[in-house]
Amino acid sequence: MIKKETVLSGIRPTGNLHLGNYFGAVQNFVKMQHQADAYFFIADYHSLTTHPTPADLHGNVKQVLAEYLACGLDPDAATLYVQSDLPETTELYLLLNMNAYLGELERTTSFKDKARKQPENVNAGLLTYPVLMAADILIHKADKVPVGKDQEQNLEMARKFAKRFNRMYQVEFFKEPIPYNFGEELIKIPGLDGSGKMGKSEGNGLYLVDDEATIRKKVMKAKTDTGPTVPNSEMPEEIKNLFTIAQIVSKPETVTMFRNSYLDCSIRYGDFKKQLADDITSFTLPIRERILSISSDNEYLKKVVTLGADKARASASSTLNEVRHIIGFRHF
Ligand code: TYM
Repeated sequence: MIKKETVLSGIRPTGNLHLGNYFGAVQNFVKMQHQADAYFFIADYHSLTTHPTPADLHGNVKQVLAEYLACGLDPDAATLYVQSDLPETTELYLLLNMNAYLGELERTTSFKDKARKQPENVNAGLLTYPVLMAADILIHKADKVPVGKDQEQNLEMARKFAKRFNRMYQVEFFKEPIPYNFGEELIKIPGLDGSGKMGKSEGNGLYLVDDEATIRKKVMKAKTDTGPTVPNSEMPEEIKNLFTIAQIVSKPETVTMFRNSYLDCSIRYGDFKKQLADDITSFTLPIRERILSISSDNEYLKKVVTLGADKARASASSTLNEVRHIIGFRHF
């Protein structure tokens, strides 16, 4: 029998899912979950780096779970679990930490970013964040990891730790996981504020759970310039960003029409934004309706995570037993 590919991804439960999470990770995973040996988890250990209150942590885990399900994650096809239900991950994290070096961890972009943004809380969890992420991936020996562009470096680190383990113990044990997107290139969905990426901490997100009025308000407020005055001119970053979002939610002919009107300087940003808000709403509304109905179904959510934890543990404990044996933790 040919072994199926293993696909794994995860998201921190630090707020509602936004379009970036959806197009960067969730949608790609959903497309693969029926062909692959598929794992999707809620990275609640990772979210402790920002010190949530117990009530927020629990509430966010539940909410994100409901949102995954609403996006089409199928708990019968994929193993859908909460990271902290799988303590095997933390043992592998400890073992991998022994071969992860301070210099390389300090040099990662995400660590430097976080250290800059929260100088009052540069904790060891932040520093070793890529090691925990590698443990998440390697514990199921994942081949492919659907993620957005911002996770590329973390995946590089995971490959490095896998290779280092194999080399150190002279085994061909861990595979080297690759970041994955169906469109081939990893993507970055921009925010509406004209800068960087859409993100939870950036406060520039369009959330799947947003209602029509909220989406409209956010899009109408999006940063724009005064408009093109010279035909065929280069678009400023904030306008390019709106087109990037239009490309994923609007019909191709709509995008072409507005692009042409930009090029010949006849574009009216108000019309463009109105159309964009309509298209985002048509896309997210059915997901929103499912979120609202699933999030109140506590029994169902409980069933899903219990089943997921059992399935995840079977795979994780088998990997961990082998790792322990390779390292030399053996029975007398
Ligand atoms: P997190 O929770 O920040 O984001 C979850 C996923 O969404 C993607 N994403 C985006 N993609 C495109 N454009 C955007 N604007 C955008 N914003 C977020 C992210 O790339 C990510 O795929 N460290 C991870 C969680 C994690 C994980 C793992 C992922 C922990 N262990 C193991 C994969 C495998 C994180 O914080 O993602």
